Amino acid sequence: MDAVYALIKEHPRELLPRAISDIAQNIDRIFVCEAGGRILGTASWQILPEIGRPKSPSIEIKSVSVTKRRRHKGVGTALIKAVIRHIRQYHPSQIVVLTFAPDFFRQFGFREVAKETLLPKLYMGCINCTKYDNPLTCPEIAMTLTLPSSR
Ligand SMILES: CC(C)(COP(=O)(O)OP(=O)(O)OC[C@H]1O[C@@H](n2cnc3c(N)ncnc32)[C@H](O)[C@@H]1OP(=O)(O)O)[C@@H](O)C(=O)NCCC(=O)NCCS
Repeated sequence: MDAVYALIKEHPRELLPRAISDIAQNIDRIFVCEAGGRILGTASWQILPEIGRPKSPSIEIKSVSVTKRRRHKGVGTALIKAVIRHIRQYHPSQIVVLTFAPDFFRQFGFREVAKETLLPKLYMGCINCTKYDNPLTCPEIAMTLTLPSSR
């Protein structure tokens, strides 16, 4: 938990800070990349019950962070692939990200969407944001990866 907390805190411009209690409560939805006893990167996911149908929900990937010294070595890619592989069991209709690194996510098939299409997420999640005063003008880019629904 401490390592995940520190990794997220390493990127105050790109990532929303998360309290240790939030990390603890969602620890089963957090992936890490570990090498030689050190945690080099992390990525979280959460179901967005406000968007989509229960049998094919939308799932958000968030808090994606790779420590600065270990960038561009495939850690971020490995984390995103592992999260996508894992969440497929929930048959998501789409995966959502809000990010400052659209080119990173584009290579997995994510495409930019208007924030208005994610209004319920913005209402439930972003309304508590302490960083930007308006979710529709916040500079993060909304992207989705649409998956064929098998249900
Ligand atoms: C985005 C991030 C997770 C990528 O991690 P990484 O381990 O360096 O990624 P990879 O090594 O798997 O990168 C593969 C490719 O993705 C692209 N890429 C990597 N980081 C990128 C970024 N910040 N912006 C755009 N494209 C990026 C590059 O094409 C890269 O290939 P290259 O190494 O040959 O240049 C990392 O830069 C990071 O922690 N950034 C700060 C936090 C953040 O912005 N998180 C995403 C928002 S949720």
